[in-house]
Amino acid sequence: MSNLDSDVAEILITEKQIQERIRELGRQISKDYERQDLVLVCVLKGAITFLADLMREITIAHSIDFMAISSYGASTESSGIVRILKDLDTNIEGRNVLIVEDIIDTGRTLNYITRNLQTRHPKSLRICTLLNKPSRRQIDISVDYVGFEIPNKFVIGYGLDFAEIYRSLPYIGVLKPEKYEKT
Ligand code: IMP
Ligand code: MG
Repeated sequence: MSNLDSDVAEILITEKQIQERIRELGRQISKDYERQDLVLVCVLKGAITFLADLMREITIAHSIDFMAISSYGASTESSGIVRILKDLDTNIEGRNVLIVEDIIDTGRTLNYITRNLQTRHPKSLRICTLLNKPSRRQIDISVDYVGFEIPNKFVIGYGLDFAEIYRSLPYIGVLKPEKYEKT
């Protein structure tokens, strides 16, 4: 048993629930993009676990690419400053792009990414997020695929971090408040 588990106040979504939901999302995406070109754009680093599992549930041919965006640093609040740290390797002009994200909180990150990617003229641009915190939204974002809607709690695990730690937990958990209040 990992000692990371002892920093978790509560398990919000179990490993089994995540895997079952991803199977459904994969089926839906495979159907929606049947006989069409598709590129999954993974937003690093938080969405890597989701991408790795989701792509194995997508039964149609597709490619993957990665983008890295600056986010929170060690704080649990959005700075509002978004910056590209790593851009896509490929040209998405004329392609069906599906952004794969870990969580939508204020919506600032995805607002920036979608506006940026639109300028490259993809054939279509949609969003697939594992988690959605609608109560925190500051910018309206239309999300096409959502794994789970969650309450306004800071979550970790399954790719999501606090100060770069806890990404390896196989479930979505709530971090004990004393863990981030100290920093
Ligand atoms: P937004 O720009 O406020 O929508 O924030 C999106 C990004 O903030 C996500 O891609 C995550 O990296 C990070 N984030 C937001 N909420 C959480 C959380 O509860 N736990 C961990 N990271 C989060
Ligand atoms: Mg992220």
